[in-house]
Amino acid sequence: GDSQQESWLRYWPYFWDGIKTTLLISFVSIIVGTILGSILALMRLSGVRILEILSRLYIEIVRGTPLMIQVLFVFIGLGSIFGWSTLTSGLVAVSLNSTAYICEIIRGGINAVDKGQSEAARALGLDYKTTMRQVVFPQSLRSIWPSLGNEFVTLIKESSIVSTIGVAELTFQTRNVTSLSYRGVEPLIISMVLYLILTYSLTQLLNWYEKRMSKKYV
Ligand code: ARG
Repeated sequence: GDSQQESWLRYWPYFWDGIKTTLLISFVSIIVGTILGSILALMRLSGVRILEILSRLYIEIVRGTPLMIQVLFVFIGLGSIFGWSTLTSGLVAVSLNSTAYICEIIRGGINAVDKGQSEAARALGLDYKTTMRQVVFPQSLRSIWPSLGNEFVTLIKESSIVSTIGVAELTFQTRNVTSLSYRGVEPLIISMVLYLILTYSLTQLLNWYEKRMSKKYV
């Protein structure tokens, strides 16, 4: 009835705080991850063996170990050395995790550009750098962009891991509401709906953008 409805609205500030923190972590991580991931991808394509090995090593370690362990490692290891808050530790861990996945997105996007494109550019007399900058990279953005969108959606969900170190994102706040309300399943349902709204609206936005982009280029 009415009083029931009012009591759930009472918990909205907790959920809202959680949503904001979830979006903050996802947003910071996608930005930092794109910057660092681009650097790793450049290292990987540099032709300098030691840089290639380091980049590869980083990617294998990050993708081959659970995010959960990475979050704990950053919090307990680095966090205690540098005196980081749980939020800072969470931001660093998720950003560094996403860096590896984004590096692969960028590398894949560059490799996906038809070889004929760079061959033609070279045949026209452009040097390697100019070919990459003016021909290959702009075209690679077409497949990189949607993949970055997917990574953002992944981050919205996977950032729930940082609730284990006490970062008050949506999953942490959901558990918070569970203990405040003495209700088991309702906070989880609300949380699922909220995550769905975030991921679904983002996906729709990306689809819309992708359609607009392809109209522009085809
Ligand atoms: N659940 C996976 C893990 O624990 C995914 C990690 C994050 N994935 C990503 N695309 N950033 O390793």
